[in-house]
Amino acid sequence: MALDRERILCGLKDRRFWKELIVLEGAGSTNDVMRELAQNGAPEGTVVIAERQTAGRGRRGRSWHSPQGGAWFSILLKPPVSINSAGCVSVLLAVAIAQSLRDWLKLPVGVKWPNDLFLNHRKLGGILIELMTNLDQIEALVAGIGVNVNNSVALEEARVVPISLKQAVGHAMLLEDFFAVVLDGIADGYKRFLLQGFGSVLQKWRELSVLGDEVEVHKGDKVFTAKVIDLSERGELLVEAQEGIKALVAEEVSLR
Ligand code: BTN
Repeated sequence: MALDRERILCGLKDRRFWKELIVLEGAGSTNDVMRELAQNGAPEGTVVIAERQTAGRGRRGRSWHSPQGGAWFSILLKPPVSINSAGCVSVLLAVAIAQSLRDWLKLPVGVKWPNDLFLNHRKLGGILIELMTNLDQIEALVAGIGVNVNNSVALEEARVVPISLKQAVGHAMLLEDFFAVVLDGIADGYKRFLLQGFGSVLQKWRELSVLGDEVEVHKGDKVFTAKVIDLSERGELLVEAQEGIKALVAEEVSLR
């Protein structure tokens, strides 16, 4: 059944933040649709949802399996911060989504730095952030969010075993309810970040992080183990490796 846009809007607690909600039956990648909208002046708070994607993209140039039944969407934010703080936005989005799903479904959804969503040691979803910048300021930030909800998950292609909410809960759920809950959670988390800074996110991240004390870091062709210390004020992962303390930006970090 096609997604009911009105039902998503009616389910939102606060309709003021989300200025435009576009629901498409199909798209190559919602991030590409959003980038074009942003270039044509779309406002902060625009959302593009696609029922399926034919060219879904993941981080690090990977493809993202996006069949019918999943939540594939992009949101447009214009945070008044420098590009150095993009990592904070990325962490805040993952934390906000994880927390809203925990509150809604009472499932132990966690966050794997920087912005993967984990459930029962499996990957539930991920976020792909793309920036439009002007000198060192963020002009627009496109956050592409993919969460396995009712869709089949592609076990054979995945590096990390995936899971869907349907598998975890034992039945399918209304995608419209998912979007209302998650969009409310993101709007709340983002507004709190703008008012109170990264401190409030950091505290939540510490509670929801699934990283253990030790992680394996893949940097280029080097692999080393390191001890997790915390996040920096820019959202970088601070680890202690043999050569000393390092702030990780986009390195691949696996659980040990
Ligand atoms: C990752 O974990 O690698 C990030 C996955 C991001 C997938 C979403 S689905 C909606 C949006 N459109 C895309 O092409 N990618 C993101």
